[in-house]
Order: sequence, then C-alpha cells, then structure tokens
Amino acid sequence: MTGWLVVNAFLHSIKFEEIYARLIRAFSLRGGVLLRKSNAELVSALGASVLNRPDFVLFWDKDIPLAYRLENAGIPLFNRPKGIELCDDKALTALALERAGIPHPKTIVAPLKFNSGPYGDDTFLDSVVEQLGVPLVMKERVGSFGAQVYLLHSLEEVRTVLRAHPNAAWIFQEFIKTSFGRDVRVQTLGDRIVAATARFGAPGNFRSNVTAGGRMEPLNLSPAFQRIALDAARVLALDFAGIDLMYGEGETPIVCEVNSNAHFVNLDNALGISFEEMLADYILKETRYRDSDKV
Ligand SMILES: Nc1ncnc2c1ncn2[C@@H]1O[C@H](COP(=O)(O)OP(=O)(O)O)[C@@H](O)[C@H]1O
Ligand SMILES: [Mg+2]
Repeated sequence: MTGWLVVNAFLHSIKFEEIYARLIRAFSLRGGVLLRKSNAELVSALGASVLNRPDFVLFWDKDIPLAYRLENAGIPLFNRPKGIELCDDKALTALALERAGIPHPKTIVAPLKFNSGPYGDDTFLDSVVEQLGVPLVMKERVGSFGAQVYLLHSLEEVRTVLRAHPNAAWIFQEFIKTSFGRDVRVQTLGDRIVAATARFGAPGNFRSNVTAGGRMEPLNLSPAFQRIALDAARVLALDFAGIDLMYGEGETPIVCEVNSNAHFVNLDNALGISFEEMLADYILKETRYRDSDKV
C-alpha cells in the first residue's frame, strides 16, 4: 500500500523532520510505502484526476484547502480535513466543543476586523474582562507549544499584548486556576486511548507545554478523563488526536485544546512507546475498509 505524507514546503524544522522520518520508517517496517510530498508540489496535482493516486494520505500539514481538495478526489485522509480545520483554529474548536456540550473554559472570540494593524477602538475589552474576570487567558487562535498563550492580570496587560501583536486573531478564556502549571496530554487513535501523561510546567509557569520547559510523567487516566478525551476526538472528527485536558474544581476534566497532529516524539520518549507504529497499523487497516473510489 502506498500513501503520501503531506508536509508543508515552507516549514524548516528539525522537530518536524524527526516526525516525518519516524512516520516513514513505521510504514516501511510494515511493507508499506509512505512518500513525502509537499503542499507546494501538490498544487500541480489537484482535482479529481490526481495522477498516481495514493491509497491514502497522512496529512501532516495545516493547508486546509489542499486537504479538502485531496478528499474531494476520493482519497482517504488521516486526519480528515474537517478535523484539522476545527483544531487548527482554537475559536472553532471551542465552538464545536460548546455545541457538543463538552466541558471547556468559557471562551470569547475577539471580533473580526478587516484592516491589518490595531483595532483603534478596543472598548470591547471592557466586556471581555467583565465576563471573564482577571486573570484571564489570551491566546492566538492559531498557535502551538504554548508560545502564543498569555496569562494576564489586568485590562492594561490585555491591551499591551493586543497592541504588541496588531495582526493576530485572538480568543479570551476563563483562567482555570485549579490547573495552574499542570495538565494532561492524552493521545487517541480511533476509539482508543493509546497514551496519557501528566504534564507539569516549569516552576511559576501556568503553561505545561514540554516545549515551553515542562516535563511529562506516565499517568493512569481516570474514567472521566478517558471519556471526555474520546468524546472530544469523536466530535472533532479526528482519527488521531493529542488532547490537552485541564483539572477543574474537584479534579473534573476540562478540555483545553485539541491537536490534530500532535508532536508525538515527546510522548514516545516519556512512555517508551512508538505512537508512529500504532498509527501506521491503524491507517493501513482503516484504508482497506474505507471506500476510496468516491470522486
Ligand atoms: N484557560 C486556561 N486556563 C488555565 N491554563 C490554561 C488555559 N489555557 C491554556 N492553559 C495552559 O497553557 C498551555 C498552552 O495552552 P494551549 O491552549 O494548549 O496552547 P498551545 O496550542 O500553544 O499548546 C496549556 O497546556 C495549559 O497548561
Ligand atoms: Mg497545547
């Protein structure tokens, strides 16, 4: 069976190269072939007449129109474009979780503006602070590794961050203080949980991303945490997902965010597992079942 590993042509990162190498190796160990293709080279292969169609696509990019185009051509995609789209934008994730009644921090999406540059009139922030209180969490809608996530203690701090990044799109969130510096990362695959870790932030840091200096420990996941992780993956249409869960009052689970192509290398290292091999098994099995002839 031959698949494409679709990656972004303009992303140059050792971390991502390691992921691609592990994925390609996992398929070759199973007698499959995973060919690396960049989104840039696939601009020439669009439409229903994709030449040398692969049996499946493992889409490790966020180029959502390209993902939909490949799906329109009838090729089974992992993850599916809808899931990638909902997860890539934290505002859409929040709305999908809200619609499904899955616990998630109270979230306000910053209003759309058409001009680049500052809002000019930012009086809507009064209402944000009134509804969420301070401290509150402010995040860019698209971001990862905790890099675009801020804990802010006053309206003035919110204004300062907003002014420093005039072209970013934001969400504002209720701060879940019971989860300060700790959360849970769950990796799902199909309707199973294949790994769970407790994550702890660097001292004094409210964020627990490993890339931001945190650490991971193996975790025995309680049934409530298992259920919410699987519910989130199902609602977001994800075959595989890295789900961040926080601890609410009474240690109840709250979904923080969902990653459609999570960096599994940290998880592999912390738990001594090979997520990429589980994923390869899953995709090869699923592809045999999915109808790939629909155009
Ligand atoms: N609403 C919140 N309340 C408390 N902590 C939060 C909240 N949102 C995010 N965090 C912390 O910040 C970290 C990064 O936020 P997250 O939304 O997962 O963004 P990223 O995509 O950058 O990982 C989370 O793992 C969690 O530790
Ligand atoms: Mg995260």
